[in-house]
Amino acid sequence: MHRSRIFSGIQPSGELHIGNYLGAVKNWVALQTQYESFFCIVDYHAITVPYEPADLRRRTRDMAGSLIAAGIDPAACTMFVQSAVPEHTELAWIFNTVTPLGELERQTQFKEKSSRQESISAGLLNYPVLQAADILLYKADMVPVGEDQVQHLELSREIARRWNARFAPHLSDASNPEASGFFPEPKPLLTPTRRIMGLDGQAKMSKSLGNTVGLLEDPKEIWEKLRPAVTDPARVRRTDPGTPEVCNIYHLHKAFSPPETVEHVAVQCRTAGWGCIDCKKVLLDSMESELAPIRERAAEIRANPSTLDETLAAGAERARSVARETLRETKELMGLQ
Ligand code: TYM
Repeated sequence: MHRSRIFSGIQPSGELHIGNYLGAVKNWVALQTQYESFFCIVDYHAITVPYEPADLRRRTRDMAGSLIAAGIDPAACTMFVQSAVPEHTELAWIFNTVTPLGELERQTQFKEKSSRQESISAGLLNYPVLQAADILLYKADMVPVGEDQVQHLELSREIARRWNARFAPHLSDASNPEASGFFPEPKPLLTPTRRIMGLDGQAKMSKSLGNTVGLLEDPKEIWEKLRPAVTDPARVRRTDPGTPEVCNIYHLHKAFSPPETVEHVAVQCRTAGWGCIDCKKVLLDSMESELAPIRERAAEIRANPSTLDETLAAGAERARSVARETLRETKELMGLQ
């Protein structure tokens, strides 16, 4: 039976944090057996901003270990490192030639990231073109991501449409734009936790903003971040009743705590039965139940570095066999060698 394909990627630009985990990786784990799945550590994306080569190599391997610890099963899916499959950059070049410059300049993530850089590389601008190549190389139908990637995926669809119309119109069905052409138009797969806020409550949890909670941090470190975390701003005194829906800690309870605890938390908040510190302690316990086994697995994986190397090499080999074929067909349709 033909299974639909999913593809997703993560940058090795820092540790895996609970935003990545709840927005994307946990969903990858849930979907990896249902779909034919490709998960990629996108190191070529990570070099679009300043970085240290030795750090990048370490982080790439740490990310692979963390993904496995979080539940990614390299036997059930194809997990690999982007720079081990050169077809990604080759297809990205091809896609550059059908991508309107204006679309790239309009990307929110480009505007945000470029405003933080002194010198902006062309790579940062072309970042979403490489992302389109990642996905379309595997002709993936769906892409499990957090909300911040939705605009990039719109552009991937636009690139697929433009390329299909120019080079393979005979393979598309004009009366049914949903039917796939040579490159299917990939759709985002979002979760209820599609946008996790940082503990400052101000902005999305993000490596580049430094407001993250690492998936592998120990409970002491997590508590140091949770204790001062922003809650409902209207709860000034311990006795003030709160509104759970406006509180970031409540949203984290919804992600980590069992439903009966979530309900209890909401009641205790509204009635000022608990103070915010009480509520955070319960959250810490719930997080610990989910994260402690992940931490233990990560330590085991770190103790066996050669197994990780073999896993990544096997993943790259599998990915390449698909990528090579897509690129061969693409080049043939374009009159390239
Ligand atoms: P990256 O590395 O920033 O994030 C990896 C995944 O985590 C999700 N995510 C979040 N979800 C909810 N709340 C948050 N605060 C949060 N922070 C991050 C992201 O949406 C993402 O799904 N451009 C991509 C990497 C990429 C990619 C791809 C993704 C490259 N090629 C192809 C999908 C398909 C990125 O920077 O993700």
